[in-house]
Amino acid sequence: MRLLVCGAAGFIGSNFVRIRVRDHGDEVTVLDKLTYAGRRENLRDVDHAFVHGAIEDPDAVAGAVEGAEAIVNFAAETHVDRSISGPEAFLRTQMDGTYTLLETARERGLRYVQVSTDEVYGSIEEGSFTETSPLNPSSPYSATKTGADLLVASYVHTYGLAASICRGSNAYGPFQYPEKLIPLMILNAMHGDRLPVYGDGMQVRNWLFVEDFARGIGHVLEHGAPGEVYNVGGPDEAANLDVVRRIVGLTGADPGLIEHVTDRPGHDRRYSLSSEKVRTLGWAAQVRFEEGLERTVAWYRDNAWWWEPIRSGEYRAYYERQYGRALG
Ligand SMILES: NC(=O)c1ccc[n+]([C@@H]2O[C@H](COP(=O)([O-])OP(=O)(O)OC[C@H]3O[C@@H](n4cnc5c(N)ncnc54)[C@H](O)[C@@H]3O)[C@@H](O)[C@H]2O)c1
Repeated sequence: MRLLVCGAAGFIGSNFVRIRVRDHGDEVTVLDKLTYAGRRENLRDVDHAFVHGAIEDPDAVAGAVEGAEAIVNFAAETHVDRSISGPEAFLRTQMDGTYTLLETARERGLRYVQVSTDEVYGSIEEGSFTETSPLNPSSPYSATKTGADLLVASYVHTYGLAASICRGSNAYGPFQYPEKLIPLMILNAMHGDRLPVYGDGMQVRNWLFVEDFARGIGHVLEHGAPGEVYNVGGPDEAANLDVVRRIVGLTGADPGLIEHVTDRPGHDRRYSLSSEKVRTLGWAAQVRFEEGLERTVAWYRDNAWWWEPIRSGEYRAYYERQYGRALG
């Protein structure tokens, strides 16, 4: 297929493009604003065309979409902590950006896939969310992702747009920016830095290896029905503290580096997705958490070229603001 993939200089989008080009022979144009989370290096080994621009800029989108049969939208502001300290960019990208892409898809009659998150359902104590569960977001991040999902649904309902929504659970794996739990803890553990765990660390997440998520999005693109939502959840759940302890074990770090810090305001306790519906499209998770975490630790250990510029750049100041201490 000929695809316009938005936000693919980031974590999940770059893994998606790598798989689509390598395994499916897709021709891909990437449109990305290159925020702090977007990096050209993430796609340095992948054949693609690149347009530097924002999804909320109609001219940039019009230039990038030429020749595409479908738009897959990963572009988003994605870090909950940043949405708490500065929600404005989240509104611009999630709302104005998604609107601009939907208008473009509508004008040109394109297939459209919106990449979304389990966080739109909010927290669940027991059981798992299905696609018909009520939407109950709790942070500016998840609220703006929910707003984008509702806008997509309105374009299906009102204009008959051939759009599907793919909601993933917590993804992890190579190329993830170190502000997120797993790469943060791996890199801190490798450097002997403190391992800051929010609150009691008993927040449970449904961990999804990034390549499984990327393949799930591909399944929804190719086989998903327009107008439908598909959950793509990981095969295993684990509490944050358990994840950090496993990383300590895999890196050989000192367990005494684990430090409980003030919890994130409004921190959701548990996310869990039922993936029954996407399984009917032929998708199944292939990577269990234990294996995926080992692969992820190995990737960060072997790819200092990727994280060294991040850990020595703007990220240091972000980290100090967030955790009140400097990286070593
Ligand atoms: N990381 C997860 O665990 C997870 C889970 C489920 C769903 N998602 C969703 O998957 C998508 C990708 O997440 P990620 O973790 O790869 O994020 P990321 O932060 O690593 O990457 C986001 C990318 O979007 C780009 N971008 C941001 N604003 C833009 C704009 N206005 N115009 C164009 N490009 C812009 C950034 O430059 C970056 O390349 C997001 O929509 C996110 O909500 C993420």
